[in-house]
Amino acid sequence: MTQHRPFRWPQPLQGNRQEIWYGGDYNPEQWPEDVWDEDVALMRKAGVNLVSLGIFSWAKLQPAEDSWDFDWLDRIIAKLGAAGIAVDLASATASPPMWLTQAHPEVLWRDERGDVCWPGARQHWRATSPVFRKYALALCRAMAEHYRDNPYIVAWHVNNEYGCHNRFDYSDDAMRAFQEWCKDRYGDIESVNAAWGTSFWSQQMGDFSQILPPRFIGEGNFMNPGKLLDFKRFSSDALKSFFRAERDVLARITPDIPLTTNFMVSAGNSTLDYDDWGAEVDFVSNDHYFMPGEQHLDELAYSSSLVDGIARKRPWLLMEQSTGAVNWRNINYRKEEGQLIRDSLAHLAMGANAICYFQWRQSRSGAEKFHTAMLPHAGEDSRTFREVCELGRDLKRLGEAGLTESAVAKSSVAVVYDYESEWASEHTATPTQEVRHWTEPLDWFRALADCGITADVVPIRADWDSYEAVVLPSVYLLDEGQARRVRKYVAAGGKLFATYYTGIADGDDHIWLDGYPGAIRDVLGIRSEDFAPLGTDTEGVLDHLDLSNGTVAHDLADVITSVADTAKVLATYEAEEWTAMSGVPAVTLNIYGKGRAAYVGCRLGREGLAATLPDLLARMRVKGFDEASGASVLRVERVRTGGQERFVFLFNRTHRDVTVDIEGTVLVTSRATVHDDGSAATLKANGLLVMKR
Ligand code: GAL
Repeated sequence: MTQHRPFRWPQPLQGNRQEIWYGGDYNPEQWPEDVWDEDVALMRKAGVNLVSLGIFSWAKLQPAEDSWDFDWLDRIIAKLGAAGIAVDLASATASPPMWLTQAHPEVLWRDERGDVCWPGARQHWRATSPVFRKYALALCRAMAEHYRDNPYIVAWHVNNEYGCHNRFDYSDDAMRAFQEWCKDRYGDIESVNAAWGTSFWSQQMGDFSQILPPRFIGEGNFMNPGKLLDFKRFSSDALKSFFRAERDVLARITPDIPLTTNFMVSAGNSTLDYDDWGAEVDFVSNDHYFMPGEQHLDELAYSSSLVDGIARKRPWLLMEQSTGAVNWRNINYRKEEGQLIRDSLAHLAMGANAICYFQWRQSRSGAEKFHTAMLPHAGEDSRTFREVCELGRDLKRLGEAGLTESAVAKSSVAVVYDYESEWASEHTATPTQEVRHWTEPLDWFRALADCGITADVVPIRADWDSYEAVVLPSVYLLDEGQARRVRKYVAAGGKLFATYYTGIADGDDHIWLDGYPGAIRDVLGIRSEDFAPLGTDTEGVLDHLDLSNGTVAHDLADVITSVADTAKVLATYEAEEWTAMSGVPAVTLNIYGKGRAAYVGCRLGREGLAATLPDLLARMRVKGFDEASGASVLRVERVRTGGQERFVFLFNRTHRDVTVDIEGTVLVTSRATVHDDGSAATLKANGLLVMKR
């Protein structure tokens, strides 16, 4: 893991104060120029002060190999700048023009079967192509040289969502780069053989030239999981190396402009190791698209908290979200009334100091014409645009109140997320395909919120061991160093919660032996001999297990066969005799050194955890536990740097009216009414309140 680059944030335009940045992707090239003035006027009306330009403009900026056209971009930047709107300028390398791919089809990526990904959409390039790199870096150089003295560029937006469509490439370029990557990681071929366990199925390799990417092996066959895990690591690194090349060209020419690239952190997206990438940017940016339905707010808060963890609690920029429906799901649900503002303020609560959207003006043509935007097809006279303007006023007020000088208060509980555990647990040929790493952290985050605790979601490389309590939720891979860290943390007085499918394998995905979870069996004081998958796909198999504490397990349960003298069994399974699960420990609590370690040996889901946690949290004496107020309100605090002031954000998690106490000066409300005596407020569905204390 490299050192983090020093934090640098986009600075206000000359003569302006630091505000919360507000705006979105702006694609003026999709519109006749006479629309631009209206755009700028409406941006001002909405309070927009930042737009991202040029993300997909390569073909327009470089219409042929030896011709360049910056005039149109100069004109719109000048108009924006004159109106006080700053620019986050793209390197414009995300979507190569037709002339390039026609002349050099060898830059197109290939799928597992060797089929070419043709132009027709975007990201049809391979990160390991030296030819593509040459053209992309020439564009970066041209952009940086042309705009080096432009006073309105406050940040570089390098490329776009690396790996969104071209994460895996199986071309010969990729193969050679993968071989080099393995050389760097392992030094000699015997170490690769050992890491991948190639003596299984006669897969030994004699030298690095025999290393192939995990290409098509026939339907229903099983790829070597060690190779697969390394190919995911390599693919994240290959894109990272491409990003670094772009970044370094820009940084050399314009050393004073901070750089970022937009990540895609959300529950369930682990395209890249974003925690590793977090070290490579001057400031972190994220794109987050809401998940419709009952988990909407919780998933958003969870994801933003993970971004805050990746940013190590320094401010980050929400680069993209939608004002309403997206257009890339099967059914593209609207946002409910209030969610446009609520979602933005929830990101803000979780550490964002910039709120942006995809995109400013909704397209008329092209693949995203049904994707909502800040200025919808309906135009200015629309609920969306009115809410966009209201949000602009809210952000201005919060900026003036000093929010940008604050950071998210540290929670008492860290929920650990690990990209590599997700990658390894999503492979085939596991005890059950129903269990992966990513679902469990979100379930814990939600269940803790049900108990009044807004946890921090913390990447495994970060400082989770500085928290009062830590959750390891199906962190499948724990290498020796991480296991040692867990041991040290608990021995020194830490409060650990670990679940099934944690610490099963080491960093090479080799199983820890002598009983599960081998990496930290001693800390937990339990030993499991087998997995008991629970399924609904076959008549007559176990589909669930009842626990003695009234909760129900689904998907997977550990067969715990022994418990240390220092451990207490808090719940067991209650099942018919033939299952051989009756009386098997399900939830345990061990004393280890000065600390305590609880184990939940099965998948209880958010509901089961919420029912189990009050007892566990009380036994562990975790601070902040408040069952009564928790379920209906999500509470987040930001603390002013070096001061006592706190910004308290309260969000209604339900569809009912909820009453909350007023604890300070009310700065912003949305779908909320403060009672006449000023002591309380009622939040409607999707309502919120921000106070300063
Ligand atoms: C993002 C992408 C944007 C836009 C958006 C639509 O993945 O960066 O360009 O396509 O999705 O939701």
